[in-house]
Amino acid sequence: MERTLVLLKPGCLQRRIVGEVLSRFERKGLKIIALKLVKLDGATAEAHYAEHREKPFFGSLVEYTLSGPIIALILEGNEAISVVRRLAGLTKLQDALPGTIRGDYAAQTQLNIVHASDSSASSERECALFFKAGEIFPWEDGNQAWF
Ligand code: CMP
Repeated sequence: MERTLVLLKPGCLQRRIVGEVLSRFERKGLKIIALKLVKLDGATAEAHYAEHREKPFFGSLVEYTLSGPIIALILEGNEAISVVRRLAGLTKLQDALPGTIRGDYAAQTQLNIVHASDSSASSERECALFFKAGEIFPWEDGNQAWF
C-alpha cells in the first residue's frame, strides 16, 4: 500500500471543480486519509517546489500557488503514486490526454489543476511538509466486496 500527496491548486477552487476532481480519485478506490484547506506561506510553497528553483517559471509558479487557498490531501492505495499520476495526466498542456484530470480541465501548463507526488521519496517529503502525524487518519474498509 502506498501513500501520495495531492494538491488541488488555487484554480481548482476558482473553477468550482473540487468535488469533481476528488470524485475521480474516490471512484478509483483510493482512500482519503488526510485532507485540509490551506493558504500556504511563501516558505512552504518554495520548499514544496524546491526542485524547480532554477527553472524560469519558478517565481510565477510560487506566486500562483500562493494566489489563493489550496486543498492538500493524502491518498492511500495500491500503487497509489503511479495510479494518481496517471489519473492526473501529463504535466504539459499539449500532452495531457482527454479522460485525465489535466486533459479534461487544464487550460495552461502552469495552472494544471492538481499536483501529485512523482516518487516514493517525493511522497514522503511532501506528506511531511503538509501534514503532521496527528492529521493523518488511516482507515480500514468495512466491506472489501466493493472493490
Ligand atoms: P506540478 O505537478 O505541480 O509540478 C511542478 C509544476 O510546475 C507543474 O505542476 C506545473 O504547474 C509547473 N510547470 C511545469 N512545467 C512548466 C512550464 N513549462 N511552464 C510553466 N509551468 C510549468
